Amino acid sequence: MALQIAPSILSADFANLERDILTVADADWLHVDVMDGHFVPNTTFGLPVVERIAQVSPLPCDVHLMIDDPDRWATRYAEGGAASVTFHLEAARDPRAIARDLRSLGARASCAIKPGTPVEEVLPLLDTLDMVLVMTVEPGFGGQAFMPDMMPKLRTLRAAAADAGTDLRLQTDGGIARDTVATVVEAGCDVVVAGSSVYGAADRAAEIAELRRLGAEADHHV
Ligand code: DX5
Ligand code: ZN
Repeated sequence: MALQIAPSILSADFANLERDILTVADADWLHVDVMDGHFVPNTTFGLPVVERIAQVSPLPCDVHLMIDDPDRWATRYAEGGAASVTFHLEAARDPRAIARDLRSLGARASCAIKPGTPVEEVLPLLDTLDMVLVMTVEPGFGGQAFMPDMMPKLRTLRAAAADAGTDLRLQTDGGIARDTVATVVEAGCDVVVAGSSVYGAADRAAEIAELRRLGAEADHHV
């Protein structure tokens, strides 16, 4: 599967969000990080802001909920315009119900696991999910160092999805840049989130193109 790129607006200029959203229009998804200051030690924005982002974004919104109580909130983001909603397994009371409800609203259902969460915990849910997000940093902040020891999780998920015959996307988030994109693609990732690497680049479109090129090159070696 061709590598998809999801720039994270966590590294955008929040006073010029629409302008910064338009600068990454060559990508596949717009990654939108919602943080509540409880599930993670940082706060970004909530539903009203995401609804406006979805209205102005030329790309489908890939909303990453780093919040408590996704059972209550996840569907609200799908109703608010998110094309894909990722909730954290660690925060969910009934992950199957969340995924089912997201799909019934026409959104893609995705579940994320933090670095300390064993991959085995998400395996029983694969039939209900369109994507699994394997965090490659502790969630909460941009610009952290990539954790290569998460790669076995991707390999396990890729094998499990093949066994089950499910069409599952695998996403990584945290520390993805030119020097790490091949590593995640070789391990089975097909959607990368890139915050500081894309938004910190002088030419964001060129950075997206370069990540895509490096991803395709790595894919040929798999
Ligand atoms: C962190 C967020 C990421 C963040 C990644 O918890 O979920 O999406 O923007 O930033 P980089 O790509 O800079 O590691
Ligand atoms: Zn994220």
